[in-house]
Amino acid sequence: MKTLLVTGGAGFIGSHFVRHILGKYPEYRVVNLDALKYAGNLDNLLDVADDPRYRFVHGDIADAPLVEQLLREYQVSAVVNFAAETHVDRSLLDAGGFILTDVHGTYVLLEAARRAGVERFLQVGTDEVYGHVEVGSTDELSPLTPRSPYSASKAGGDLMVLAYHTSYGLPVVITRASNNLGPNQYPEKFIPLFVTNAIDDEPLPLYGDGMQVRDWLYVVDHCEALDLVLHQGQVGEVYNVGGGNEKVNMEVAHRVLDTLGKSKELIKHVADRPGHDRRYSLDCAKLHALGWRPRHDFETALDLTLRWYVENEWWWRKIKTGEYMEYYRQQYQARLEGVRG
Ligand code: TYD
Repeated sequence: MKTLLVTGGAGFIGSHFVRHILGKYPEYRVVNLDALKYAGNLDNLLDVADDPRYRFVHGDIADAPLVEQLLREYQVSAVVNFAAETHVDRSLLDAGGFILTDVHGTYVLLEAARRAGVERFLQVGTDEVYGHVEVGSTDELSPLTPRSPYSASKAGGDLMVLAYHTSYGLPVVITRASNNLGPNQYPEKFIPLFVTNAIDDEPLPLYGDGMQVRDWLYVVDHCEALDLVLHQGQVGEVYNVGGGNEKVNMEVAHRVLDTLGKSKELIKHVADRPGHDRRYSLDCAKLHALGWRPRHDFETALDLTLRWYVENEWWWRKIKTGEYMEYYRQQYQARLEGVRG
């Protein structure tokens, strides 16, 4: 029996990973440590909540005594760290929490993992640490030139993970993924925000000219890559995980509206995000050599995602209240009032 400590397992990607592991490995146990901040949501894991191989623990990765106790009590063999503040726009409003979780929290986990002697530490990262990519693609040796407080925090966490390998021999692996889409993504992010707004005939706030490029990865494909790197990645190495679907935001917005049968008039060009990264593009040859390929093309992934949001209003309607609406007003009200056309 192997036990994984999955941190941030109540979030979007983490919850898919918990389900993936429990489904694929009958001999594994999963302890999910999640602080249940605004985007952590136990509704994401209702289907596994009663599984005897699954335990939920409410707590913060920056709580060293708690983390040490969990590693000991459950004899954890591997740590998979999803716990992070992840939204660029929120990091522009207030960067402090990003440093606390993405840098300091990662350090606390690393230190506890080192003392406990875990067999693997997988740090789940982002392509945003490479900064924006005007031409070509970034591979794992490309310089880290993060441009937002969010990506700077994630880069800091990654560097600490690599330092724990170099300094103490901690058996770490790091992944850096492109933009994910899929069920259960918090509706502050581009696709779920646009889908849920479109269902309600609310405006879709497209930043700037809408010609920025993101490479889209279906969350299920991402979890398969994480599983592979956890088990077969080489210690001390970084692996890029890209969907191979580079799309301009405008095209994605059009596709959402077409699929839902809504008018293009819902798109509103609004003031751009400061320092908006124009394009991300990953070279994933290293992961391909391990044998991974995404199984969903963009059209299929988007259709599955759209259908899920249409069929699961119970999940997102209760999120789009309270704290969410306060954030939404702060982020979008002035932008939408100053509509450019
Ligand atoms: P987002 O989901 O925030 O991810 P990223 O971390 O890549 O910025 O945004 C994806 C893209 O969509 C990005 O180019 C910014 C753009 N975007 C909008 O145009 N309007 C929005 O309201 C949001 C949230 C994002």
